[in-house]
Amino acid sequence: MSKIRIAIQKSGRLNQDSVQILKDCGISIDNGKDQLKAATRNFPMEVMFLRNGDIPQYLRDGVVDIAIIGENVLVEKGKDIDIAERLNFSKCKVSLAVPKDMEYNSIQDLEGKRIATSYPNTVIEYLKEKGVSADLHQISGSVEIAPNIGLADAICDIVSSGSTLFKNNLKEVEVMLTSEAVLAVSPKISEESKEILAKLQFRIQAVLKARA
Ligand code: PRP
Ligand code: MG
Repeated sequence: MSKIRIAIQKSGRLNQDSVQILKDCGISIDNGKDQLKAATRNFPMEVMFLRNGDIPQYLRDGVVDIAIIGENVLVEKGKDIDIAERLNFSKCKVSLAVPKDMEYNSIQDLEGKRIATSYPNTVIEYLKEKGVSADLHQISGSVEIAPNIGLADAICDIVSSGSTLFKNNLKEVEVMLTSEAVLAVSPKISEESKEILAKLQFRIQAVLKARA
């Protein structure tokens, strides 16, 4: 019998909750530590543990059939990929922030400024919509340090509790999008896998209902 291939985050904020929702669906993962691919019990599924940012491309290529991923990653890199379910966990915002003591009245204040981010496409689109042009610096992590070291005037990054902004003397000035974990589907999913997906969605819906 064929198996559905699901990608989940290898490590990071979504990992535990992703494993948990599968568990709540009655699917237990046979996961040896540091194993990147694992079988499951009680369901025709194979789990791949991948880096967040790589997941949209794996879905696009059909290397995995489905994935649990942050909607913010799809907005940044996978606008062509469909969402089957919203999963109601890992809620966060993708926001613009500036140093606490900077006078900020509107997005126009960022005209010509340097913005550091790991979400260039999201920022470019937002600024374009607002008619503002800025100078983007793409970095892959620890973005909030950029204003303090003179690399940028503003940053765009994920805000969850807000504690990273606070610790780095930054204030949130624009919320560009709100995000949560979603179940995303490969455009290349086979008919067989679609049937398994329907069964999984049935279980997920029951779990989300019970959690509500
Ligand atoms: C993420 C994100 C923010 C922070 C937001 O960083 O990039 O910096 O969490 O969470 P908070 O609002 O609850 O503080 P992470 O710690 O995952 O590290 P990274 O930026 O180096 O990837
Ligand atoms: Mg960070």
